[in-house]
Amino acid sequence: EAGMPLLGKKMVVTAGGTIERIDPVRYITNDSSGKMGVAFAKTAKDMGAEVTLIAANIQVKYPEGITVVPVQSADDMHQAVFERWEQSDIVVKAAAVADYRPMEAAKQKIKKKGETLTLELVKTVDILESLGKAKTHQFLIGFAAETNDLELHAASKLERKNADLIVANDVTQEGVGFGTDTNAVKIFDKQGLVKEIPVTAKEEVARQVLLIAASRMDGRK
Ligand code: PMT
Repeated sequence: EAGMPLLGKKMVVTAGGTIERIDPVRYITNDSSGKMGVAFAKTAKDMGAEVTLIAANIQVKYPEGITVVPVQSADDMHQAVFERWEQSDIVVKAAAVADYRPMEAAKQKIKKKGETLTLELVKTVDILESLGKAKTHQFLIGFAAETNDLELHAASKLERKNADLIVANDVTQEGVGFGTDTNAVKIFDKQGLVKEIPVTAKEEVARQVLLIAASRMDGRK
């Protein structure tokens, strides 16, 4: 149907920066505001999709007409995504997931003592990579936030994480990446560059990515 290219599709989008607890009052996070993921949620809904937004610490209002699942850590997000994985047609991983978390979250507030404090961090689960391994019919869209060698890193993430598309942003550029209302991206598939989108509203980035996804999903059920 014209204007509703995602009608009847179920989409899960992750947004925001995960929170990895150090103790009851402190945590590690990152600069993601959730705007990019929220733009995907809103745009997909307008294109006819049934949308679930898995939201970690997002700084903007949730769009109307979608299901929101608030989460904190990478572990929580992993669980929330996998609970919905089987029924999903498209999964968009716009969240900035922590790569490491404190080995243990202290049960009580850590007291100040000594001149230095060492936190031991352990790797978190790579959600996109585990989705890539579990992929059957789903169309999987990952992101790559880079400060250098964008093409190289995007290509390696696409391959390693078995994504259908990687949306790569050079987060050192003005108006691109974390916290802004705009973004500029290069979209890659296994063959290489699919499309380059110069700085524009995050909703417009989402719309163009979702149109590519919709056209490539035809024939999948
Ligand atoms: O939220 P905003 O303020 O609007 O900012 C948007 C954004 C910069 C956060 C967004 O455009 C973006 O680039 N999101 C991905 C950020 C990121 O973590 O990129 P990465 O290159 O570290 O990770 C690559 C991919 O693997 C991402 O899809 C990420 O969700 C996923 N990943 C990473 C680590 C991990 N443990 N699990 C994952 O699933």
